[in-house]
Amino acid sequence: MASSLKLPKPFFVLAPMDDVTDSVFRQVVGGCAAPDLYFTEFVNADGLQSPGRPKLLKKLRFSAAERPLIAQIWGKQPDNFYKTARQIADGSLARELGLPKGMNFAGVDLNMGCPQKSEVKTGTCSALMNDRPLATALIEATKEGVDGQLPVSVKTRTGFSQVDTSWIEFLLDHDLDMLTIHGRTKAQKSKVAADWSFIGWARGLRDDVAPETLIVGNGDVKNRQHGLELARKHRLDGIMIGRGIFDDPFAFAGRSPWASYTPKQRLALYKKHVELFAKTWRAGERPIHTLNKFCKVYVSGFDGAKELREELMAARSADELLSILR
Ligand SMILES: Cc1cc2nc3c(=O)[nH]c(=O)nc-3n(C[C@H](O)[C@H](O)[C@H](O)COP(=O)(O)O)c2cc1C
Repeated sequence: MASSLKLPKPFFVLAPMDDVTDSVFRQVVGGCAAPDLYFTEFVNADGLQSPGRPKLLKKLRFSAAERPLIAQIWGKQPDNFYKTARQIADGSLARELGLPKGMNFAGVDLNMGCPQKSEVKTGTCSALMNDRPLATALIEATKEGVDGQLPVSVKTRTGFSQVDTSWIEFLLDHDLDMLTIHGRTKAQKSKVAADWSFIGWARGLRDDVAPETLIVGNGDVKNRQHGLELARKHRLDGIMIGRGIFDDPFAFAGRSPWASYTPKQRLALYKKHVELFAKTWRAGERPIHTLNKFCKVYVSGFDGAKELREELMAARSADELLSILR
């Protein structure tokens, strides 16, 4: 099933980052140097199957340029995973998003790694490492929902309080199409360096127990070159890059031009980001200040950058931002 994605080896993935990798930023990254695969931000399947659906649906919006795109879901109720997976696989959710006929998500991923207290205390995401019957129920419900029409994958960490080989063995027993491993435990959050030797061990185990499951490594990868070295060393199918994109929006390029980008070129890229934001999010759907976290990506490393950032971050509308950038 994973082969339906027709990915190169190794393939590169833009990591899901909540409130960061929305349709807008995915389009910006894709326009610089496209990854082979995109993920949505994580979306709560229980919320999607509740009266709160319209609010969450907008997190799943995407454009033709951001493909192939995997929808990432999280939550607690197997029945809601089943319904959500069904609606994704049969295209009804895509139609609800107003996407043209034939345009759909490329797969469904289950978040079993998020370490945030708010999620863990409800027994979801990384807490599933300690509730394996529920983890099994969620995977099985999702598979039943997609009914063989789309790949089903999991993104996780190396363990809960400590590295846990049994967790990876458990996941590989579930016949997944793809398993992404962020090389840190839940307890480590993002404080220590990612453990790539553990990811390499998981790759070795995969050969023995689940040869069809693609293994994707994640954690601290700076750019494509760095990812290629890690993929070669640990014999991985894919590499996922998250925060590296903040230091270089061209992180997926064979040769990034970012270091020699002039301030004018950097501001032009931010302008493109703001224009896409204004086009994608209708009034009030996403507050303008959510753009502030991107400001430093584009506006840094030149004289006057700090002052310009302060001015940009005080702007109260996309128009105001654009007039400063002009
Ligand atoms: C702001 C932010 C939001 C994130 N949101 C998600 C998410 O929605 N789903 C998910 O699986 N991981 C999420 N992550 C984790 C990343 O996908 C990735 O696993 C982590 O950042 C490590 O990779 P990196 O070192 O390349 O950034 C998030 C990370 C950050 C920094």
